[in-house]
Amino acid sequence: MSIPINNLYEGSDIQKMEKIVINGGTPLKGSVEISGAKNAVVAILPATLLAQDVCRIENIPDISDVTIMLKILSQLGAQVKMINRSTYEIDTRGVNSYIVPNEHTKHLRASYYMLGALLGRFNKAKVSMPGGCWFGVRPIDLHLRGFELLGASVSIDNAMVNAEAEELVGSVVYMDTVSVGATVNVMLAAVKAKGQTIIENAAREPHIVDLANFLNSMGADIRGAGTDTIKIYGVDELHGCTYSIIPDQIEAGTYMVAAAATKGDVVIKNVIPKHLESITKKLLDCGVEVEEYDEAVRVSCSGRPLRCNVKTMPHPGFPTDMQPQMTVLLSIADGTSIVSESVWDNRFRYVDQLLRMGANISVEGKVAIVQGVEKLYGAPVGADDLRAGAAMLIAAFAAEGQSLIENLSHIDRGYERFVEKFRNLGADIQRVEFPDPEEESAESVG
Ligand code: UD1
Repeated sequence: MSIPINNLYEGSDIQKMEKIVINGGTPLKGSVEISGAKNAVVAILPATLLAQDVCRIENIPDISDVTIMLKILSQLGAQVKMINRSTYEIDTRGVNSYIVPNEHTKHLRASYYMLGALLGRFNKAKVSMPGGCWFGVRPIDLHLRGFELLGASVSIDNAMVNAEAEELVGSVVYMDTVSVGATVNVMLAAVKAKGQTIIENAAREPHIVDLANFLNSMGADIRGAGTDTIKIYGVDELHGCTYSIIPDQIEAGTYMVAAAATKGDVVIKNVIPKHLESITKKLLDCGVEVEEYDEAVRVSCSGRPLRCNVKTMPHPGFPTDMQPQMTVLLSIADGTSIVSESVWDNRFRYVDQLLRMGANISVEGKVAIVQGVEKLYGAPVGADDLRAGAAMLIAAFAAEGQSLIENLSHIDRGYERFVEKFRNLGADIQRVEFPDPEEESAESVG
């Protein structure tokens, strides 16, 4: 079925909204190229501020989080030059501001990396509190404590975080909780601090290692990234470099689960299979076939998936950012599965949407009990956040009938050209414009 893009509203004041229309039930087949990692690039772009030079960065994904991050860099005075669709040159020599206002930070959690990067460059930073996906309270106490341990004084005034130091001096920073964001921020602030910084109980995600490799390519001296102890020997200066971002673990995992949920057969290319191990393991537990190659994985599934239990953990555990997608697969599995969320307090909001599609899931706090059903049925649903949006796409592909997915801006934050990529795998997916119904009814009433 095809829905025409509606031109009727051109020139009117009615706001247009976009939706995804998916006719489900087609097994996904073929191959897909994975883009650069969102969670790496949002740390590496701010890190360019530390060089006062030109960095050429390759394999940058075309996603809205990157667009916002590049805008922030430009506003600070950086020259951003697009070389091709995935390569940018960033010249940070002209950066002359250490202030990032709310205008952009409200859309993007990772805007708080500007704190560590600007503090590292200017010994001061003033950055509006970050936005991003809502999974319950998202504190930044560990980031701020890390800056204080390096000698900065930190205050929050009118939703702006101010950090300032006479001089940053290396220190031992023990993380009470394993935090990706705090590990990144302390690395950024410590890289040019005086002396040695040791981060204990550091996060070990692939994007932490990618950031360390990038900083080392700029002349930093960081050791141990990928373990829970990271040692940073402060250097006086960093220089520009050419660097290619790692492939996105979560984008790859999303296509893996989509292949399995639609009983498809997909080769997922440009991946690091080692980064996918925890996801691969769970798919194998579900009876899904996964073959590993050097830089690709092939995922196929011919019958109904088997049940299994999933508990999210910091890397190398099962990633919380794959929890909603995996729950969709388990919602059509044979038997009852238990999904435990141990990273975020409130990451099951999307379950309400799956219930509309016929899933049988009950949530008790941070645990979901998923009783597999034979089938999901298409329905109008919303993308509550980035990965919830990915889960809705998978559910819609697997379901019988038509689904409409709203709130696409969340999905655009992290999935490059997803409509085109899924369509190339045989999915019946379209992005269409509708007038905003609220605006429309306001118009007609008025
Ligand atoms: C990053 C990812 C996000 C992912 C998460 C966990 C990016 C841009 N985002 O988010 O997609 O879901 O890692 O893998 O990389 N915490 C504190 N105090 C702090 C910081 C965190 O208590 O100062 C807690 C959080 O509430 C949470 C846990 O630590 O329970 C992990 O959070 P963290 O790893 O910091 O997540 P983010 O870096 O925000």
